[in-house]
Amino acid sequence: IDGLKGELMYRGYDIAYLAENKTFIDVAYLLLNKELPNKKQYDEFKLELKKRSFIHEGMMKIFDAFPDKAHPMAILQAAVSALSAFYFDHLNMDKPEEYHEMAMRIIAKIPTIAAFSYRFSRGLPIIYPNLDRGFTENFLYMMRSYPYEHVNLRPIEVKALDTVFMLHADHEQNASTTTVRTVGSTHAHPYACIAAGIGALWGWAHGGANEGVIRQLEQIGSVENVDKYIARAKDKNDPFRLMGFGHRVYKNFDPRAKIIKKAADDVLHALGIDDPIFDIAKHLEKVALEDDYFKSRNLYPNVDFYSGIIYKALGMHLEMFTVLFAIGRLPGWIAQWKEMRQGGEPIGRPRQIYTGAKERAFVALDKR
Ligand code: CMC
Repeated sequence: IDGLKGELMYRGYDIAYLAENKTFIDVAYLLLNKELPNKKQYDEFKLELKKRSFIHEGMMKIFDAFPDKAHPMAILQAAVSALSAFYFDHLNMDKPEEYHEMAMRIIAKIPTIAAFSYRFSRGLPIIYPNLDRGFTENFLYMMRSYPYEHVNLRPIEVKALDTVFMLHADHEQNASTTTVRTVGSTHAHPYACIAAGIGALWGWAHGGANEGVIRQLEQIGSVENVDKYIARAKDKNDPFRLMGFGHRVYKNFDPRAKIIKKAADDVLHALGIDDPIFDIAKHLEKVALEDDYFKSRNLYPNVDFYSGIIYKALGMHLEMFTVLFAIGRLPGWIAQWKEMRQGGEPIGRPRQIYTGAKERAFVALDKR
């Protein structure tokens, strides 16, 4: 990432090139193997993922144990953690095939776990993976289909979601990736590390912002109220912040936001969606981009501002938004975990600056 230039590259390839010309499968392969796949490698990788997309039936009891309307992020985190019990391998990092198996399993199974988390949380019948469909298409199928009922998935919907997954695939030391690496530095099971990363992703300052964006647009309610909420965002006595604006590293613009804005426009147009919430989003974006408060602090819409819009256009339930981010981020988490382990990184152990009382005398209980 070059935050000042607003640049993002995966292993030397510009994100705009990848998003335009490649698929999430290519990007996952690139992050894991350092090179883009050729045709044969692509087909094999895709097939390997398909073969591993089912999960152990014993895991159904885990989904079943959650209460109705449980947040899918809670279910996802628990289920990914449980994967380490169902697929407990003592990894030998000197053996590439062991690492490969671990990585393929979790990339293949996470969309299935994510879709099952959603179906269980809404009391909907479970739809098993369909091996005739591609990676992203199969995920949408598991989310939307009903037993014995044909589901109509439009290529533009699959492409939009695939693009969002690609844009999320890796992003240097963000909070969740740092978490994965820190937990990994203790030599914990890799799936336990990913589960920890999912926990870090959940908060609104990180991946939870995409859910926050739509909740906030609903709260704003109409284009007429936008000015009122902009004023709240600028008021230092009000904790209100515009969700989907600002970034710790990008101080010019978020290159992912540019790409995803176009994908959002395309999808809204192609699906003929006319939802007032998108008018509010467009107006909010325009007003904020012209406002001195936002301009002087380099606060631009980030990737989560538009990803929420795409997810909503695809009919995703709000609580699934951060789960979708997790599916996209997975290849990055695994590649970073591998780099950390193979590099022999020592245990993550920051020191602290203690600012409390210095050494002091003990006072007996009856004298306190
Ligand atoms: N709305 C209003 N004011 C803001 C916002 C916002 N969204 N973001 C930052 N500011 C102000 C902040 O109050 C501060 O003002 P001042 O200098 O007067 O005190 C200034 O801008 C700098 O903010 P900061 O909190 O020091 O910036 P940061 O780099 O620590 O925070 C951030 C980055 C993303 C947490 C923050 O911009 C934010 O809370 N944004 C809203 C939540 C969001 O969209 N999160 C997704 C981030 S991108 C995807 C991801 O990482 O998952």
